[in-house]
Amino acid sequence: MTSSFYHHLFIFSLLISTTFAATNTRPKALVFPVSKDSTTLQYIVPITQRTPPKRVPTTLHLGGPLVWVDCDRGYVSSTYCPARCNSAPCTLANSISCGSCNAPPGPGCNNNTCGLSPQNPITNIATSGELASDVVRVNSTTGLNPGPIVKATNFLFSCGPTFLLKGLAKGVQGVIGLGRTKISPVFQLSSTFSFPKKFAVCLSSSSSNGVIFFGDAPFQFYPPTDLNSLKYTPLITNPTTPTEYFIGVTSIKVDNTTVPINKSLLFINKKGNGGTKLSTIIPYTLIETSIFKALTTSFDKRLKQQFPEAKRVNGVAPFDVCYDSNTLTSTRVGVVVPDIQLVLQNNNVVWTIYASNSIVTIDANVRCLALVDSGMNPKTSIVLGGYQLEDNFMQFDLAKSRLGFNYLVFRTRCSNFNFTSVA
Ligand SMILES: *[C@@H]1O[C@H](CO)[C@@H](O)[C@H](O)[C@H]1NC(C)=O
Ligand SMILES: *[C@@H]1O[C@H](CO)[C@@H](O)[C@H](O)[C@H]1NC(C)=O
Ligand SMILES: *[C@@H]1O[C@H](CO)[C@@H](O)[C@H](O)[C@H]1NC(C)=O
Ligand SMILES: *[C@@H]1O[C@H](CO)[C@@H](O)[C@H](O)[C@H]1NC(C)=O
Ligand SMILES: *[C@@H]1O[C@H](CO)[C@@H](O)[C@H](O)[C@H]1NC(C)=O
Repeated sequence: MTSSFYHHLFIFSLLISTTFAATNTRPKALVFPVSKDSTTLQYIVPITQRTPPKRVPTTLHLGGPLVWVDCDRGYVSSTYCPARCNSAPCTLANSISCGSCNAPPGPGCNNNTCGLSPQNPITNIATSGELASDVVRVNSTTGLNPGPIVKATNFLFSCGPTFLLKGLAKGVQGVIGLGRTKISPVFQLSSTFSFPKKFAVCLSSSSSNGVIFFGDAPFQFYPPTDLNSLKYTPLITNPTTPTEYFIGVTSIKVDNTTVPINKSLLFINKKGNGGTKLSTIIPYTLIETSIFKALTTSFDKRLKQQFPEAKRVNGVAPFDVCYDSNTLTSTRVGVVVPDIQLVLQNNNVVWTIYASNSIVTIDANVRCLALVDSGMNPKTSIVLGGYQLEDNFMQFDLAKSRLGFNYLVFRTRCSNFNFTSVA
């Protein structure tokens, strides 16, 4: 009797808070911090999930299809809800499987549930897992600070086993995939809170947090910075990996001089090979051998033209092109090297990789070009990795299928979002 009373009271209060969240405090945008694990170089996003709420650190997988967490170890929640076979969540997730479980029932192990494969993007190991929903709490934002916390009551995710965490950063309990699927957080949160299907990622180059936003608002970093002046380029879909984000690089330049490459490698062919993808899983940009050779040759030639004293030294794995730091020229703002320009749909839309994103310091004597040769026949010709994405504000607009981007360093940094809560 008592327990049933509390049960009803509980449901009643849930309904009230959901309604409240949906009307009075409908947020324009949501905000998450994103940190970098210094050992694995993975980007970590904490999700506040379950009842009572628990902070669940996850590895960011920009093009990943779903959110999954370890449900085997320490998953306690009164609001966990497995997705029953053929229910609406299964349809949304495109899951036609119907599974059962022989172990004791609990989160991740229920009969008559549909499944969705969680995958570890580092090891590429995938397994079967139960689709489920639970409560997720997120800070809303007006663009300036984190604001009141809002609740998404039926946030869908997949359950993974503990062993699937192998290869992920220490303390991480899952993966947050932001790829193009109907169950990715951007689709779920935009439908829960009725905001546009947009999210923005700003990865920090320091040990301070970067930031991820869902929805849209006049986002601000201090000192006050106008982020309206984004450059836009179409997001391209690769039919063989449709959840991932590709952009259309059409040529590469070093300090405005075109690098001679086989341009057909820059386009995605019928087999889904080629093209340029954005990845938060790869720490340093991977480039197909012939493009890598041409680009690094042009870079080295141009550097020595400007600074004849620049001296190459042996490569330091995984980098091939390294210099004696004492022979490089530095100014107040850092080392001076040629710009690497990825020309997009036309000559006015260029993604420039400046020194802070192209040069990595190995030790007091050696600095390397932070690009990695990915061999002769990689599936994707250029995979832009984390180091090259840092301090770029990147807004993914899925309705318009375009990427807005802006390099912040001349004015601010991705670590300069003001995380002081004004809730
Ligand atoms: C699933 O159903 C089978 C057969 O009825 C039963 O033996 C098993 O315990 C059930 N598992 C769960 C997790 O409920
Ligand atoms: C490249 O071209 C732009 C625009 O024409 C110019 O402003 C810039 O100074 C050039 N950069 C170099 C390194 O020549
Ligand atoms: C350019 O690359 C494409 C795709 O790999 C290849 O088929 C073609 O033969 C290459 N062309 C030249 C001139 O090397
Ligand atoms: C961050 O926001 C808080 C709360 O609005 C404010 O007091 C503080 O001055 C801000 N800090 C910076 C560096 O802008
Ligand atoms: C909301 O933001 C504050 C300040 O950054 C943070 O301490 C808190 O953990 C956040 N809450 C959630 C649910 O993410």
